[in-house]
Amino acid sequence: MRLLVLGGTIFVGHAVAAEAVRRGHEVVCAARGESGAVPDGATLVTVDRDAEDGLAPLAGESFDAVVDVAPLSHPWVDRALRAFADRVRHWTFVSTINVYSDNATPGQTPATGPLVPPLTRHATREEMAAAGDDGVLLYGGIKMASENLVREVMGVDRAFIVRPGLITGSWDRSDRFGYWPGRFAQGGRVLVPDAPKQPIQYIDVRDFAEWIVDAGEKNLAGDFDGVGPHRPLATVLEEIAAAVGVDVEFVKASPTQLTEAKVNPWGGPRSLPLWLPPEYDGMKSHDTAPSIAAGMPVRPLADAVADALARERELGLDRERKAGLSLDEEREILATL
Ligand SMILES: NC(=O)c1ccc[n+]([C@@H]2O[C@H](COP(=O)([O-])OP(=O)(O)OC[C@H]3O[C@@H](n4cnc5c(N)ncnc54)[C@H](OP(=O)(O)O)[C@@H]3O)[C@@H](O)[C@H]2O)c1
Repeated sequence: MRLLVLGGTIFVGHAVAAEAVRRGHEVVCAARGESGAVPDGATLVTVDRDAEDGLAPLAGESFDAVVDVAPLSHPWVDRALRAFADRVRHWTFVSTINVYSDNATPGQTPATGPLVPPLTRHATREEMAAAGDDGVLLYGGIKMASENLVREVMGVDRAFIVRPGLITGSWDRSDRFGYWPGRFAQGGRVLVPDAPKQPIQYIDVRDFAEWIVDAGEKNLAGDFDGVGPHRPLATVLEEIAAAVGVDVEFVKASPTQLTEAKVNPWGGPRSLPLWLPPEYDGMKSHDTAPSIAAGMPVRPLADAVADALARERELGLDRERKAGLSLDEEREILATL
């Protein structure tokens, strides 16, 4: 098939383009080319989606399928649909688990989870970060409006809407999952959250890419969560440590101790990545049965760990990270426990 990836220069878009090339498809990636290079075998067409006529370099082109990763812009999605909808068979939109408004109830599915109000606007990453807790509503609202437009223009039988939560793999800008393989590889006493009941769900970017390319090939349509089966974070951390294979001692700190030590949950600076307060247990325990029934692949955790660790070593285990604790920060907190 002839596939247009709106993106393709980094992480999810790159993985989708690489998988499609691997399967012998003709792949065109449309981006500025600033985040990175497209995979070998794919073609980059330079576009600027911020400009009203930014997709002009692709004028008149037809495709079998489109994959759009537009992170924070309803106008980007609108322009793309206006440019290609009547010349494409199938459309994938990469959305987010943050379109759900209920973070507490476990077992939600796209058929049952309540949704945030849509926002038909554009935002920047900086604006989202500056909005604090409201940033998630901004992100979820823009994705919600973008999803709605894709369904409306393409029709529900030609639109594959997929909502990932935590995506693992090389090139993840958030630096979250890689913290744990990278930290365990350095051995010693490791600060971990004492949150035995917290669930976690993730999807490996390669599984995600395979599923998205499958969807384009097979005309899979509908709304799906892009998250693997949920398991306790404590178990996942133990399995990551086992897969890394270096001797470590887990030193558990309660949520109260972590909060007192000014350790942030989930991600960002001075954080313990993937740790979340109990009010988010529902966001990390969606029912994945519908996605698995629709062919979502789930590779073993050890594969995700090996991929993340290879990338961590390439970038340098002692680098300044976007998420996690530095060894100095961790030592200072361990000394207080
Ligand atoms: N990371 C996670 O755990 C997570 C979780 C939930 C959902 N998601 C969603 O998953 C997707 C991640 O996608 P991704 O990793 O492929 O991409 P991304 O990091 O969100 O980047 C978006 C793509 O758009 C391109 N781009 C940026 N500005 C542009 C412009 N003005 N004109 C044209 N292209 C532009 C970028 O390439 P250039 O810079 O080269 O132009 C890049 O290829 C997003 O939709 C995100 O919301 C991620």
